[in-house]
Amino acid sequence: MAPEDFVQVEPDLMPFVVPVVLVTAREGDFDNLMAVAWFGVACSEPPCVSVAIRPGRTTNPMIRKSWIFGVSVPGPDLVKEVDFAGTQPGSRVNKWEALSLEMFYGEKTGVPLVRKCPVNLECQVRHVIRLGTHDLFIGEVVNLYLNERVLENDTLATVPLNHLLYCHPQQRYYETGRPVGMRGKG
Ligand SMILES: Cc1cc2nc3c(=O)[nH]c(=O)nc-3n(C[C@H](O)[C@H](O)[C@H](O)COP(=O)(O)O)c2cc1C
Repeated sequence: MAPEDFVQVEPDLMPFVVPVVLVTAREGDFDNLMAVAWFGVACSEPPCVSVAIRPGRTTNPMIRKSWIFGVSVPGPDLVKEVDFAGTQPGSRVNKWEALSLEMFYGEKTGVPLVRKCPVNLECQVRHVIRLGTHDLFIGEVVNLYLNERVLENDTLATVPLNHLLYCHPQQRYYETGRPVGMRGKG
């Protein structure tokens, strides 16, 4: 029995504030990108991430065919672009052109990446799991690009990364807050 200060609700009301990323794909000559909030770090070695994408998205069959995808991690300055990429289907709109986003291609996979994003990952698909509404793509990160904005002496800066965050039940975007502790020191 749950204590009286808890109520049980449908589990689709996922109460998380999570980083929202741009997942990019290339199939033949066609480059696309979409917003993905169901993104996670899945493994440290080999470095892997997961992205959950509905089968109906233009991006899903592109990744299934090419077996590659990119993850471009936006800051809060890209909220309009992310929202557009998350509400327009690439089957009808060329989102790169519509957003005038400069891209560069990953050296190992050829996947398109977003120059304005401070962190970009090139991923090679290792597993695809059909879960239900979403397919879970698990990709090994074969290349990581960090912009000088997030670097300090060639390593990741100690200043907090200012990610764009998203809360699905509220349909709201947030930005990263202030640090509240250090690992191992409480
Ligand atoms: C903030 C935000 C987060 C989203 N997260 C996901 C997600 O995790 N998985 C998914 O399949 N769709 C997600 N979407 C919806 C897709 O980004 C949207 O349907 C997009 O138009 C698909 O583009 P495509 O058809 O070019 O692939 C999200 C949309 C927004 C606005």
